[in-house]
Amino acid sequence: MRSTRRTVPSAIKAALLTLLLLQDRHPANAAGQEIPHLDRRPVSTQLIVDGRPFIIFGGELGNSSAGTAAEADRILPRLARAHINTVLMPVAWDQLEAVEGQFDFAILDHWIERARTERLHLVLLWFGSWKNAFSSYAPDWVKKDPKRFPRAMAPGGHALEILSTLSKENLDADSRAFRALLRHLKEFDSQQQTVLLVQVENEVGILGSGRDHSEEADRLFAASAPDALVHAIRAHPEWFQSESHRALNPNGHTWQEVFGDEASEAFTAWNYARYIGHVAAAGKTEYPLPMFVNAQLPAPSERAGEYPSGGPHPHNLEIYRTATAALDFYSPDIYWPDFQYWFQRYGVRANPLFVPEAKPEEGPFNALYAFGERAFGFSPFAVDSLPDVDGSDAGKNPLAQSYEVLEQLQDLLPAAQREDKTRGLVLHANSSRPSQTVSLGGYLFTATLARSWPTRNLLQEDGAMLLLQTGPDEFLIAGTALSVTVTVDPDARNGIAGIASVEEGSRAQSKWSATRRLNGDQTNQGRSILLPDHRCTLLRVQLYTIPSR
Ligand code: DGJ
Repeated sequence: MRSTRRTVPSAIKAALLTLLLLQDRHPANAAGQEIPHLDRRPVSTQLIVDGRPFIIFGGELGNSSAGTAAEADRILPRLARAHINTVLMPVAWDQLEAVEGQFDFAILDHWIERARTERLHLVLLWFGSWKNAFSSYAPDWVKKDPKRFPRAMAPGGHALEILSTLSKENLDADSRAFRALLRHLKEFDSQQQTVLLVQVENEVGILGSGRDHSEEADRLFAASAPDALVHAIRAHPEWFQSESHRALNPNGHTWQEVFGDEASEAFTAWNYARYIGHVAAAGKTEYPLPMFVNAQLPAPSERAGEYPSGGPHPHNLEIYRTATAALDFYSPDIYWPDFQYWFQRYGVRANPLFVPEAKPEEGPFNALYAFGERAFGFSPFAVDSLPDVDGSDAGKNPLAQSYEVLEQLQDLLPAAQREDKTRGLVLHANSSRPSQTVSLGGYLFTATLARSWPTRNLLQEDGAMLLLQTGPDEFLIAGTALSVTVTVDPDARNGIAGIASVEEGSRAQSKWSATRRLNGDQTNQGRSILLPDHRCTLLRVQLYTIPSR
């Protein structure tokens, strides 16, 4: 029989191949080596460093910890000892460009060099036009010249300590400085690639009133919303609506008509996104590292203006995404109790999961949850204030204990995240429910906080675990202070689950070595997996399933 298959002309083949290659091609340095970039897949996005997925066991410095070179020598060695592999550090515009047009990279270069000695990576936080809404990190020559560098205005007409998003002069000055920073990074670091990501500005938004009330802002606010935004809303109203419960009117034209009561915040979000997107794009023309922004999350019932109005909050993400393509992802700074809720809200529409700031006290537990739920990075705030794990303070830094266990899984985690073979779980004494269940590999794992026997007192206020499936019935569990029972997931199959064995141990060079075989009281006579309190541990658990009858 004659084949009916048509041959594809070779020119078209070549064009298709080029297209494929182009899609897969990532920015490279002068030597042709790829620079850090994101690899986006349906289940999880990963950060690729030196050709391999890299998980950020991070920690952010306090705001005033990176202002001198000497601080690097004091801080970085102790962070490396605490099993942190990446430090998030501020780069302050006022120090980088104290005199307009003259850039001083000496402090930053020292931090990068010291990080290399300690085998650490860095994420830079660009404290440029705004840091926590205000413009306190702008250089003097910007602050002292409000005519040239206008501020946002309060409703009564007085200037806020917040640079206006609407000024081209502000935007150009910030973009020039940021571009100079990225140009320098390309020269200084594109080979060694110590710096992985850049956060552009910090927790932006207008505090006080919902928007800028300058004459220019009033004029723009009364006019039509930008066409690009209106078109995006008409194409996908659900992307804008589902997150925010806004009374959206996709057929409206002015900001008020389209966004109703939330017009001020939407207007503000659009203007921040345009400005920051422009700054990020300017930096990327020099050295296209992945770039992101972070949000100060609202407390319950807070109104826009009580939290920074127009920041990259979940309900504003589509506005940001429509306004700029230069930002690679959006991140929450999670200080509120419901870590899981905020974390999950940033996972919408395939947004890569990275937490640049989190409450330090809960960091050791939320780290286990975040990596189990596919984060590529997690970083509690002010880690330089945690006890040094050296000497007498050993054991007083639970974050270091969690990271020490997690780093034993770093060769397995990226693939397991991608194959949907990980789960995270975290519980607190004040959690709304006493137990939580996750499903993995056909089993349901139900955890409660660990209690003493026989008095049943809580052994620890918080407990957490990361589950990683390594075989059909085999799991690694990193965690602390939980009691976990296992049943068959009835949605997956029928049967009765049992615990075949539990070992405590460690992994090195991809090899498991058991230190203890747990049974009897340590598994509640074979009925539970018990994660000890006041230390993070790694268990290897074999399960089995028998027919129910
Ligand atoms: C969130 C900010 O982004 C940080 O820079 C720092 O100010 C913390 N808040 C302080 O708690």
